[in-house]
Amino acid sequence: MKKLFSLMLAFFVFFAGCAERESTPVPVIVSVDEDESLTAPEVAVSGAGEKQEVIEEVEKVAKEPDVIYVPTPNDVVAKMLELANVQKDDLLYDLGCGDGRIVVTAAKRFGCKAVGYDIDPQRIKESLDNVAVNNVGHLVTIEQKDIFTLDLGKANVITLYLLPSLNVKLIPQLKKLKPGSRIVSHDFRMKGVKPDKIVELTSSEDNAQHKVFLWTAPIKKRNKMKQAGDDVVSQAKFESTPVAIGGLSSP
Ligand SMILES: C[S@@+](CC[C@H](N)C(=O)[O-])C[C@H]1O[C@@H](n2cnc3c(N)ncnc32)[C@H](O)[C@@H]1O
Repeated sequence: MKKLFSLMLAFFVFFAGCAERESTPVPVIVSVDEDESLTAPEVAVSGAGEKQEVIEEVEKVAKEPDVIYVPTPNDVVAKMLELANVQKDDLLYDLGCGDGRIVVTAAKRFGCKAVGYDIDPQRIKESLDNVAVNNVGHLVTIEQKDIFTLDLGKANVITLYLLPSLNVKLIPQLKKLKPGSRIVSHDFRMKGVKPDKIVELTSSEDNAQHKVFLWTAPIKKRNKMKQAGDDVVSQAKFESTPVAIGGLSSP
């Protein structure tokens, strides 16, 4: 009898607890992904407004890449760094660093400091492995960040392999570069901003033609240029390119 009573009491306490939880606002733990690197820190919030803010913050961190991963062939990387005239005292940022080959090569060949940013946790892992294998941890930093949230003011070399529309989206940030800073982009122009130079080369890795565009800060936007449909063509090029995922480069 005593046992039955204890059981009933336990049920009562349990159901009362549930009812209480439904009617009273309690802290909410917001988490969107099992993968730790994609999940924002757990945050307890009480009001609806605060909860919305936290959800927006989580979405910012967990954003999907704006462009798929395709590595730049190593001979094209070398051409990009040569065209940017990278020097030992430069600070290079690769926006969307993939497996980190550009930042690793810059540090190894020129002894400069470099930061690689990518939003994809798999790419971050590959970049960190690449940095470790090539012993450039004292020069190279890898950060998981959305490139559109970055302050580029400290960098003086920017490397890009994105899409024409993403290059254009970066213009407000690129305008903050110090005068004399160099921007190099693999294959894609920046609509409305005239490059100082365009170099074409055939990579021995894929036997394909590649272009490298160079701009020097301060960049100035021209009035009108006709390049409609650039991204469609560019995406098609990415999609037809074989992707060597996970390979460590030994620049
Ligand atoms: C075409 S790959 C270029 C990789 C490397 N820069 C190279 O040239 O070998 C573009 C990279 O940008 C990353 N990416 C896309 N959108 C991004 C964003 N909003 N923030 C940070 N990285 C992003 C992708 O994950 C991918 O690794």
